[in-house]
Amino acid sequence: MNTRVESALNEQIKKEASSSQFYLAMASWAEGNGLNGTAKFMYTHSDEERFHMLKLIKFVNERGGTALIPAIEQPPVDFKNLKNVFELLLKHEISVTESINDLVDICLQEKDYTTHNFVQWYVSEQLEEEALARTILDKIKLIGNDNGGLYLFDRDLEASIIQANTSNQMNGGN
Ligand code: FEO
Repeated sequence: MNTRVESALNEQIKKEASSSQFYLAMASWAEGNGLNGTAKFMYTHSDEERFHMLKLIKFVNERGGTALIPAIEQPPVDFKNLKNVFELLLKHEISVTESINDLVDICLQEKDYTTHNFVQWYVSEQLEEEALARTILDKIKLIGNDNGGLYLFDRDLEASIIQANTSNQMNGGN
């Protein structure tokens, strides 16, 4: 496969792997702070990022390239509060979107239309993930320092994951 595209895909593998670890750290922090709904949300999100990484690894290998399994930096252990967690999540997703856009650009420059087609799935996924992060952050901002509101938010987040998993199973998974 085109070496420039291969190297950009490997960079993206690393980004997805780092995202998975970052959200795993957030899940663990939330679990340790009694935010069980947020923990479940982050564990699920971390699994999704691992799936994004695997999808890239398989694509690179199937096309005759070599997928590189990256070393990952240790993510933070501690976070200021729930708002800070979701602010970091949104910031991180925006940076992932930028790197997907760079990947699209490289595919076009190198006239690799097969990879370009493959990457479109990530373009749509990023749109959804950024929108979800913004919606959640807006809710957290509305709640402010109201502990009762935070409790309900955390409970609702847990319910929304159960609902998403159920409808995903009914649709035969992704
Ligand atoms: Fe796979 Fe949320 O980036």
